[in-house]
Formats: sequence, structure tokens, C-alpha cells
Amino acid sequence: MFQTRKREAGEGLRVAIVGATGAVGEVLLGILEERQLPIETLLPLASHRSVGRTVSFRGNEIEVQEAKPEAFDGLDIVFFAATGSLSKELAPEAAKRGAIAIDKSSTWRMDDRVPLVVPEINPEALDAHEGIIASPNCTTIGVVMALEPIRRVAGLEYVVITTLQATSGAGKPGVDELEAQVTAIREGREPKAEVFAAPIAYNTVPLCETFRPEDGYTTEEVKLLYETRKILGPTHSGGDVDVHMTCVRVPVPVGHAATMLIQTERTISPEAAREALAAFPGIEVVDDIATNLFPTQRDVVGRDEVLVGRIRRDLTSDRIALWQVSDNLRKGAATNSVQIVEALIERGLV
Ligand SMILES: NC(=O)c1ccc[n+]([C@@H]2O[C@H](COP(=O)([O-])OP(=O)(O)OC[C@H]3O[C@@H](n4cnc5c(N)ncnc54)[C@H](OP(=O)(O)O)[C@@H]3O)[C@@H](O)[C@H]2O)c1
Repeated sequence: MFQTRKREAGEGLRVAIVGATGAVGEVLLGILEERQLPIETLLPLASHRSVGRTVSFRGNEIEVQEAKPEAFDGLDIVFFAATGSLSKELAPEAAKRGAIAIDKSSTWRMDDRVPLVVPEINPEALDAHEGIIASPNCTTIGVVMALEPIRRVAGLEYVVITTLQATSGAGKPGVDELEAQVTAIREGREPKAEVFAAPIAYNTVPLCETFRPEDGYTTEEVKLLYETRKILGPTHSGGDVDVHMTCVRVPVPVGHAATMLIQTERTISPEAAREALAAFPGIEVVDDIATNLFPTQRDVVGRDEVLVGRIRRDLTSDRIALWQVSDNLRKGAATNSVQIVEALIERGLV
């Protein structure tokens, strides 16, 4: 079993954030303040470019240091919110020094030794961790949150998903590119596309990350498939949940949305699905067609709940259709990582 540092009674956690200057890192700092984790020290880490900058935490300005293995000595928790290659290199270094690495990148998610956790769904997976714990992709988290309550009541066979993903899903450079292109178009200039494969301003782009030459899917879409299977586990009949997905980038700074068509194993009415969703922790149902009530990406910014609406029966089958929105930087990334630490504390694992 993985052993963390022995803490004295009443001693708080020593925590570091790798990527503290990035889009997820900044939101993570705010959530760590909000949620009252027992933090004794907080160490912001980033690349050499950010050394000398400060970040603010609980009223103090703390200097950013370069992320290097030695920085992890004596820590309890290291959040990784930087790049996949850095997580690959440094997460084992953190674990080697007795700190638990909570990784936001895709590097470790499909590794059999690494739990992939959404605390509302599979916190028990944490018990077997070996020092590295993965938080799922920002799109996967919203999707599995909406699927799990329905799966618990009616089982799950397959789901057809189309996502509408915010530019911040590609980090700060993605947000900046949308702004720069809006300005360029307004000033009559050609928008320059660097982060995304085509102009994202006043447009939608059906390519998140990169295409896979072998099957025409994108790396983002394939993450959604395999991560969903790993988190939700097998169907009642022992097979894998099938996930058919198209991921689309939209000109929205924050908030990922998805339409979902769900084939359950046993028929479930839209009313029962609505009830199961409303009772699930971390979900809020926003759904009243009489008053045009449905959740939008703007509604979810700064919130931790996954919002679900447009819950209805497919017109040509007994499938359930719905619309789901979540803040990709919060529940899709930072909040989920902090909830993982809260679950570790609850389970006596840190
Ligand atoms: N954005 C989302 O919605 C989202 C959701 C889920 C997961 N994630 C994952 O979270 C991670 C961070 O994403 P982000 O959106 O926050 O990206 P971002 O805004 O581009 O920030 C990247 C962060 O990583 C740091 N960094 C980059 N190279 C580094 C290096 N060689 N050494 C140390 N630090 C380095 C940067 O530091 P400098 O400022 O010094 O360059 C910055 O703090 C990624 O793995 C991403 O896949 C993102």
C-alpha cells in the first residue's frame, strides 16, 4: 500500500500545483481557497518562464518556482495541471517522494495501476492507488456524471454523444486565440488559426485535438470512449458500454456542453430519468419546456454542478435524449481534482 508522510495530529497538508499559472491551475488555486481543505503550505510550480511571478493564495503572494523533482520533497499532494509529458516525467518523481500525484493530463488515465476517478461515481477506486491518481478528461467528466444516475436505475448499453467544447479546453492559448480572432474579424483582418485547425471565431470546428489516421476519429473522441468505459465499468450483461462520439469546438470561452442519446438496458421513462438525475450529488436538473428553461454554457461558468436539461424520449425508440453542460475548468478539471483529495481524506488515505 502507498505510504504518505506521517503527519502530526492537527498538521495540515503540504500541497504543490504544477501548472499554477495556467487556466486550470488558476481556477484550482481559487477552489482550494473556497473549499477549506486543511492546507498548511502551498507551493506553486510552473516552467522556468514563470519563475519570479507570484500567485495569490489566502491573501498571500507566493513566488512561483520551477517544477523539478526536488521540489516535491516533504509534500503530501501534488496536483499536475501542466502538460502530459511533464506529468509522465514528474508524477512518478512525486510518488517516489511519498506525495500523491493527482494528474489532470491524459498521460496516466488508461494505465491499469492508476485509478481514474470521479468522486461521486467511483471513489472506491482510490483505495488501490499506488501514488498516482488520474482525473478524467473535461468532457468525459460531464458525460459520465449525466450517465451514472441513469445507469444505476436502468443499466447502460450505448450512448451517442456530440460535444460542444469551449476554447479554454485548450488552455489559455485557446481563450486568447478566440479573442484575437474576434478582434481581427471586427477590424476586417483575416483571423489567424494556430491553436485550432480552423478559425474558431463565429465558427464551429469539428476537430478537438488531432485526427487519428487509422480510424478518422480524434484523440479527444477516443479518450471519451475509453475513459467512460473505465469509470462506469461493464454493462450488466458484462459487455462494454459503447460510446459513439463527435467532439466539436465552439466559440465559447468556458463551458463544455453535450447532446446525448442513451440506450439503456431496461426501459426508463423521461420522468424516472429526470428523478434519478435530480437526486444525484453534483447534478442539477434545469428543465422546463413550458418556460424555455434549459442550461447553457453561460449558466454553468463558475459553478461545480453539472447541469442537465432537455430530458426527453427519442421519437423513434425507447432511448432517452438529454443535454448536459459543465464548467470544464471547474468540475471538468480543478474541482474534480480537489474532490479527489477530499475523498482521500475521507477514506483515511492521506
Ligand atoms: N483546460 C481544460 O479545460 C482542461 C480540462 C481538463 C484537463 N486539462 C489538462 O490540464 C492541464 C493544464 O491545462 P491548461 O488548460 O491549464 O493549460 P495552460 O493554460 O496552457 O497552462 C499550462 C500550465 O503548464 C505549465 N507548463 C507548461 N510547460 C511546462 C514545463 N515544461 N514545466 C513546468 N510547467 C509547465 C505552464 O507554465 P508557464 O505559465 O510557466 O508556461 C502553465 O502553468 C493539461 O494537461 C490539460 O490537458 C485541461
